[in-house]
Amino acid sequence: MQTGLRTKLLEAFSKADGEFLSGQKISEYIGCSRTAVWKHIEDLRKEGYELEGVRRLGYRITKKPDKISSNEIQLGLKTNIMGRHIHFEQTVSSTQKIAQSLANDGCPDGMIVVADEQTDGRGRMARAWYSPSGTGIWMSMIIRPNIPVNQTPQLTLLTAVAIVQAIEELTPLRPTIKWPNDIMLNGKKIVGILTELQAEADKVHSVIIGTGINVNQTIEHFPEELRNIATSIKIETGTNLERAQLIQMILLKFEGLYSLYLTKGFKPIKLLWEGYAISLNKMIVARTLRGSIEGKAIGINDDGVLLIETADRSIERIYSADIEI
Ligand code: BTN
Repeated sequence: MQTGLRTKLLEAFSKADGEFLSGQKISEYIGCSRTAVWKHIEDLRKEGYELEGVRRLGYRITKKPDKISSNEIQLGLKTNIMGRHIHFEQTVSSTQKIAQSLANDGCPDGMIVVADEQTDGRGRMARAWYSPSGTGIWMSMIIRPNIPVNQTPQLTLLTAVAIVQAIEELTPLRPTIKWPNDIMLNGKKIVGILTELQAEADKVHSVIIGTGINVNQTIEHFPEELRNIATSIKIETGTNLERAQLIQMILLKFEGLYSLYLTKGFKPIKLLWEGYAISLNKMIVARTLRGSIEGKAIGINDDGVLLIETADRSIERIYSADIEI
């Protein structure tokens, strides 16, 4: 089916919001004959859509395949800025790399880069990020906030809150956040966030926030070495979640929090973040690239930096580390 027709057909079903659409209405909407409509419906079925057809009522979509594409993300997206421009590719090395070059070329604020698979996904502290096809969300958001460079880590915490809220909205799960930005379920990691900057001395050109979300993996999908430390929404709930729907919800939550942040500052975000944090007021070990620091996590400061009180009662500021509780 031609992409334009397919988009219009899916748009018509999205507007119908689960109600039946008659063959006549569909043919008028997409501008083709009734016979062609029937053929297009068959094509959608071949793509994995489940459609119910009832005489005199027409058709309605009862189940969508878990496919992600620009169309799938755009249809039903309720944001004003976030995700209004989408760069989608089936397979990329890393969405961060593409986002960086788009940002360099002056792409619009709020643009997102999404891939079904990454062959060279990157994690924090120069680690690799396992990103197989058909199961997870590998997305980089590009924003251009007018804030000082030292405040940009706050955006990572804001993103973690947005993702937790989106998962809470669409599933019965109640994830927690391990500083700075690991989203956890039952002691295992479900989401990782990598924030990168394009900035000079005191001007932020763009912030690229990469999010890796394990959505529909089963335990067998993970390589042996990740099985004890990683989990997915499917493993935790037993059901699949449509990735495009979760992306839409994350973008909506992010946009709301980001606008709150730009008008009211970091305080309200910090409060929300603290409500989800599991590492606070506990004895922790922070493994940094310069060595380990042990002590009590007493909070985060207004820049989002973790504060640890060590045995000699001094306060250490942690900018980047892996936390063990
Ligand atoms: C972490 O180490 O916890 C951060 C993982 C971030 C992974 C995401 S997936 C989308 C984007 N592209 C990348 O290469 N990395 C980030």
